[in-house]
Amino acid sequence: MTNTDTVLVLGSAGQIGTDLVYTLRERLGGASVIAADVKDQQGYLRESGPFYVLDVLDKMAVAEIINKHKVNRVYLLAALLSATAEQKMKSAWNLNMEGLFTILDIAAEKKAIRVFWPSSIAVFGTTTPRILTPQFTVMEPTTVYGISKQAGERWCEYYHAKFGVDVRSIRYPGLISYKAHPGGGTTDYAVDIYHQALDKGSYTCFLKEDTTLPMMYMPDAIRATLQLMEANDADLKIRSSYNLAGMSFTPQQIAAEIKKHIPDFTMDYHPDFRQQIADSWPQSIDDSYAQKDWGWKQEFNLSSMTNDMLLHLKEDRQHA
Ligand code: SER
Repeated sequence: MTNTDTVLVLGSAGQIGTDLVYTLRERLGGASVIAADVKDQQGYLRESGPFYVLDVLDKMAVAEIINKHKVNRVYLLAALLSATAEQKMKSAWNLNMEGLFTILDIAAEKKAIRVFWPSSIAVFGTTTPRILTPQFTVMEPTTVYGISKQAGERWCEYYHAKFGVDVRSIRYPGLISYKAHPGGGTTDYAVDIYHQALDKGSYTCFLKEDTTLPMMYMPDAIRATLQLMEANDADLKIRSSYNLAGMSFTPQQIAAEIKKHIPDFTMDYHPDFRQQIADSWPQSIDDSYAQKDWGWKQEFNLSSMTNDMLLHLKEDRQHA
């Protein structure tokens, strides 16, 4: 990332976009980071730099903004997450796939654009080894979201090989942030739990107590994303998507960690359809390719994340 970069973040009001725009604007200055979202926004996104209401399915409108601002970095974060996608099958497929084609096609026409596109642990399925899931392994996703991400990975690799598109991607684990609210994902219980612990002192979890999933604190995820986008082209051996590991924990373990700060916190369990999604995903991830190719190293664990989450959420509540 250099000061001459102009960045477009599509889906800027979403789970990753909220944190990413903030970090990019801190680094590059507000004017160089164009935020866009399908829904109109007030506050930070509009006040700290340019903001557009933009539908990623409208290729002409996206291309116009890219041309107008001479954009050379695009982060395509507009997507429906796993739980929502199960409820809105066709529109999720359409948004997740056609949105990707919008950007890959524009990037294939204009060679100077570098693209970031997020994939997910949802590309794996019940036939994948679940412990330390390797980079290259069986991939038979069972969710609409997972199928769209797996297909997207293949298209990223294809556009890189056939058209030289500089597209880069990470298979994110569940992401946890104090800035962004839960957005329809299966791993989102691990965000909601902190809010409810502070507001109500209790939480009803939609996953079983012993469901282990790979997770990552958002500051680590943003650091990984920017590190990958700044990596030398020649070092990147994988143009589908990189495995990325953070921490792994169960609902029971995160509850125990929260109890260290809020001793009266209680948790009960009412698993719903999201249990089946969680059961099809890995428990932990082998990210040795990310470590080797672009120097990835995780920082936060469950304990340091919980400290930081509660600190920031308490501050927010004091200032509200
Ligand atoms: N966190 C996402 C979800 O639960 C997975 O990528 O949908």
